[in-house]
Parts: sequence; structure tokens; C-alpha cells
Amino acid sequence: MDFSIKSFDTKNPAGALKTGCLVLGTFEDGKLSDAAQQVDRKGELSAAVKSGDISGKPGSTLLLRGNGGPAERILLVGLGKQDTVSEKNFTSAMQAVARVLASLGGGDAVIALPFEQVRERDLFWAIRTSVLAVREHAYRFDAMKSKKEPATQGVKKIAFAVSVPSAAPAKAALVEGVAMANGMDLTRDLGNLPPNVCTPTYLAQTAKKLAREYGMGIEVLDRKQMQALKMGSFLSVTHGTVEPPKFIVLKHDGGKAKEAPVVLVGKGITFDSGGISLKPGGSMDEMKYDMCGAASVLGTMRAIGELELKLNVICVIPSTENMPSGSATKPGDVVTSMSGQTIEILNTDAEGRLILCDALTYAERFKPAAVVDIATLTGACITALGHHNSGLFTRHDDAHDALANELLAAGRASGDTAWRLPIEDSYQEQLKSNFADMANIGGPAAGSITAACFLERYTRKYTWAHLDIAGTAWKSGAAKGATGRPVPLLTTFLIQRAQVQSLTGKGKKAA
Ligand code: BES
Ligand code: MN
Ligand code: ZN
Repeated sequence: MDFSIKSFDTKNPAGALKTGCLVLGTFEDGKLSDAAQQVDRKGELSAAVKSGDISGKPGSTLLLRGNGGPAERILLVGLGKQDTVSEKNFTSAMQAVARVLASLGGGDAVIALPFEQVRERDLFWAIRTSVLAVREHAYRFDAMKSKKEPATQGVKKIAFAVSVPSAAPAKAALVEGVAMANGMDLTRDLGNLPPNVCTPTYLAQTAKKLAREYGMGIEVLDRKQMQALKMGSFLSVTHGTVEPPKFIVLKHDGGKAKEAPVVLVGKGITFDSGGISLKPGGSMDEMKYDMCGAASVLGTMRAIGELELKLNVICVIPSTENMPSGSATKPGDVVTSMSGQTIEILNTDAEGRLILCDALTYAERFKPAAVVDIATLTGACITALGHHNSGLFTRHDDAHDALANELLAAGRASGDTAWRLPIEDSYQEQLKSNFADMANIGGPAAGSITAACFLERYTRKYTWAHLDIAGTAWKSGAAKGATGRPVPLLTTFLIQRAQVQSLTGKGKKAA
């Protein structure tokens, strides 16, 4: 997909642009957008609206052959009520446009929607949202099919028509949107690949490729090196698998040398059978998606690499399969984590926290400005928040409230939202063990919170947040597939950090 910006002014209005398809907005009260009014030379657009061919409801569309102007076709799209184009209505409209353009003849389109009229959002937001909507519809995964789907028809070149003074911010939004979409595509591909292809070794190779492409630092530790680091908790999850585990560290040094990095830790279980606490068979294939935390972190690294973001970011990925075997960890086993804390493993299916806790301890060495872990951690998070919001957890003090608010705002700005849940001492008590410092499960109640409480015990040396993406990383059913979330949230969060950093020059290493 090739995106560009075309600017218009009174002498060269949007309607004068030659194109295969001109996309224009209309409202629910029967009014055409300004650009549509200019194009409506013979009144056929207003006639179409008047006759009820298009309702103007958000996402309604009407495709017309050209009206004698320079556009071969005109696509009218409904934006809802005029004085309040809400974020939601604009997004539905753009999704509808993306759907129509994906199956249209004719090589190119010009989108001339009122990007500056979205309530509480600006043109930058509208352009970026539009790019993401188009790319979401253009995504295909046929890597494993013997016969590839024929290169679909549909528009391959899209220009956004904006006023001359808006051209510069529109271009910047486009660059950001494309980088984010490229990152999401990588995340979706890694998630959708079968678990016999996307192994820990494959994730490590992907990280190495990113390192080469964007000049990042890379280190991949093998089992021996993990043993030397005493990662007894992570290693306990690897005992049942024949696939070699990998511990991946990828570094983007975009900021000043002395600036403390943001560390992203991604859960990389390339297949979660549950281990000896075996999962039931139904939908077990979907546990190939248990590496979506790792995939989202790699996708985010791709996005910020492409943007050459001026921020130090380190990604840490503990990766293994979780399998049953004669050598696998058993319920009742007690292991010693890298932090020295001991863990009684009461359920081998609560393996995510076991690999993450050692990665979180490892992250201490970077003296991070903040650490965010991203994990498909608990089925309970789907029960709590469904498939709309990722679960967000931090401690509850001023520094952590600030980090939580940054992440929540990044989620809202990118349409990739999260919802905060509590971490409290009363939940910590559920992790008591008679035989070790803690158990790896906290009983059936509040499963996502006790999982976060477990991780919290390994993050007390820095500012930390945890994102549970069990409900948001992939879709089940007919539309089964990875979503690319939370790449938009994470990328937006990092971009905003880089902007603050450049304004204040802050972010020196913590003492
Ligand atoms: N990867 C799963 C969590 C999961 C399950 C995500 C289903 C999305 C859909 C995780 O490793 C797991 O198995 N968690 C257990 C924890 C329990 C044993 C305390 C769970 O959620 O059932
Ligand atoms: Mn599990
Ligand atoms: Zn898991």
C-alpha cells in the first residue's frame, strides 16, 4: 500500500484532483461535508443523500460513478451527526472506506474527509487512524497455504487530501501510522505462524533480523547461559520441551548514552500445552498465540526502529514451549528464581509468571526508567475485561500512577485501550505457600490480579507496569487471527516518552 499526502487550497480544491475514487463525507442530517459540497456541481450528491440512498449514519457508504469531474468514482461515507464527529464515528467511517477500497477496481483513491472536525482529536490523529484502518483490512496471512490467494484487486495507492497548512503534520502522521502498521504486521505474522515454525529459535532469528535491519544491539542467551544466571524459575518451564529455549535481548539506542532505558518484557511461550497440568483439548491450538507478548514487543521495536525514535528502549524476551514429558516440572516442585525467592509450583499451567519473573529480575541490570511487561497471562483477564481492553496493573503510588496514566492515555490515543485493575496486599496473601516463599497460583478468585501480584514481587527495584493481553492479542472463531495489539499502545507510549525526553532532557539513570 502506497500512501501520500495531497494538499489543496481554494485555487486547487480537493474535488479537482484526478483519481480513480474520491472519498467524501456526508452527515446524518442530510448535509454534505465542505469538500463534498464543492464537488457536487450538478447536485447529484445532494440528490443521492436526499433520496435516502445513503443515511449518513457512521460507516454507511454509497459508491457512484463519476459525475463528469476528474474523479472516475465518488465514494460517499456517513460520518454521523455533523457538529459532533466522534472518534468512534470517524473510525467506523474509515473502516467502511477501507472495506470498500479493498475490493474496488481502479488503482488509486483520494480521501478528502473532514480530518480536522473530529471531536477532541486533531488531524494528526485522524490520518494515523485512517492509515491503520486501511492496513488492517489489507492484511493477509497465507504464508502456510500451498496456493497463495491471488493478489487481491483493490486500491493500492491512497492519498489524503488536506489543506496546505496541514500538509506537514499530515505527513508526520502518515509516517507514524505506516511504521505502526508495519510493526503490527510483524506481530500478527509471528502470532499466526504455527507453533512448529514459530519456535523460540524462530523468535530469536526474527530479533536478529531486526537488529541487522535497524542497527540494534542483540544478544541471545541459550540454556547454559541461563543456568549460569541461575534462572531456576524460567528453566523449570523448559524441562519438558525438546525445543531449545532462548532468552532474547534487543537494544534500540536512540537516546543519549546516559539516558535510562525503557525496558519492554514480552512473554514468549511459543506453545502452552499447560505442561503436566495439561490443558483440555478444545481450542488448544490457540495456545500458539501464547507468544503474543513477545511478538508485540518485537513489532514495537520494528516500529520505533523505522521511526528512528530518539529513546533508549530494550526488549527482553524469555521464550520456550511449555510441554509435558517425563522430565517436565511436576506440581509440588519447588524452584529458586534468579532473585533468590523460592516458588512452589502448584500448577504447571501458570508458567507465564515463571518465565517473566526471571526476565524481570534480569531487567534490573539496565537501571531502567520504567519496565513494562506484556503477556497473554491469564484466562481470568478475558472473564474480567473481555476482548476490548487489555488489563493494566501497577503498584499504587505517585510514580506508578503516573506510568499507568501514560499507558492508559497512549491506549486511548491509539484506539488500543487498556483498563486498570488493582494490586493490593490482601490479594498477595492468596500466594502463600506452606513450603516455599510463594506459590505460583492464588486460587480461583481474581486470577489476573494474583498473577500480577506474583510479578510485582520481582519488580520492586524500579517503576513497573504489567499488561495482560490474553483477551486482546488474538481473535477466536471464524475470524481467528492475531490482532497486532498492543503495538499501537506501546508505540504511542514510547513516542510520547521520546517527546517529553527531548523537551525536558530528563531520564537520567536511576540511582
Ligand atoms: N497462556 C495462559 C493464559 C490464557 C489462557 C490466555 C487462555 C488466553 C486464553 C496461561 O499460561 C495460563 O494457562 N494461565 C492459567 C493460570 C491458572 C493455572 C492459575 C489460566 O488462566 O487458566
Ligand atoms: Mn499456561
Ligand atoms: Zn501461558
